[in-house]
Amino acid sequence: MSTAYWIYAAELADVQSQEVMAVSTDGHDLALYSVDGQVHCTANQCTHGNAFLSEGFLIDGEIECPLHQGRFDVKTGAPTCEPACDPVRVYPVKIEDGRVFVELS
Ligand code: FES
Repeated sequence: MSTAYWIYAAELADVQSQEVMAVSTDGHDLALYSVDGQVHCTANQCTHGNAFLSEGFLIDGEIECPLHQGRFDVKTGAPTCEPACDPVRVYPVKIEDGRVFVELS
């Protein structure tokens, strides 16, 4: 069983200004999203193919993959538009002193 731990990912202001942001930390490729004042985090790799979700478009809380336009709900990771079928992993996020932390395991 792996142990969960929190790791610094980004400055909150940077995520808010970019809306979608790629972060590579501690061997994990992540995508951070700013939606309605909340920050969410998923794996950056699309589950359908070889594409980074951080290079897609954030539309109404869903990230649209740049390669085939599959979509995922960034809060739950659930696929919302084909050809995406498998959920993308989501990671818990917390904000402390204007800094974004992500829980990894
Ligand atoms: S690689 Fe993302 S939808 Fe195909």
